[in-house]
Amino acid sequence: MSEATASNEQVSAQSDSLAVNRREFLNLAWLASLGFLTLQVGGYTLVFAYPRFKEGEFGGIFTYGPVANLPEVNASPENFPKVKFWISHTDVGIVALYKVCVHLGCIYGWSDQEFKFICPCHGSQYEYDGTYRQGPAPRSLDQFVIQIVDENGNELARTPDSGGPVALPDNPNAVVRIDTGAKIIGENHA
Ligand code: FES
Repeated sequence: MSEATASNEQVSAQSDSLAVNRREFLNLAWLASLGFLTLQVGGYTLVFAYPRFKEGEFGGIFTYGPVANLPEVNASPENFPKVKFWISHTDVGIVALYKVCVHLGCIYGWSDQEFKFICPCHGSQYEYDGTYRQGPAPRSLDQFVIQIVDENGNELARTPDSGGPVALPDNPNAVVRIDTGAKIIGENHA
């Protein structure tokens, strides 16, 4: 074999080896990006699979307890400051009213003397069931969805999609749950 032929074969072997290395590198890079993508998708799936709020904290589901524990019809509304709502027991059912005034976001209060909710900031007033009464607020109070379930967790009643009181089932052991992540916007007044 001539010297020139030997040198050509050497160059050819080197370029083959470079091509293999490049191919290996591209394969590795492709596998790495596939692995990264899989991890990312898996991470997002986990984030969305788990509830963002724990049961009992604001933003999650609050279990009130049995229907038998509710205040009497037209008694003072029950205040739940940590989960930011009032429960009013009207003669057609119960409502869970979000504690934030729909005018500019102040925390309104309840007046037993006047039997209405009153906002200290600009004087908006709301009825026992959250209906707008007077003042600069543009609408009735917002409310949370209430679900009432039996001892086995089967739903017996739920706040209507358009809001308003939910009628109580004839089962004193049924459990009242309030979903503070499901807000129904109050109705605008004329
Ligand atoms: S924030 Fe309640 S009346 Fe203005």
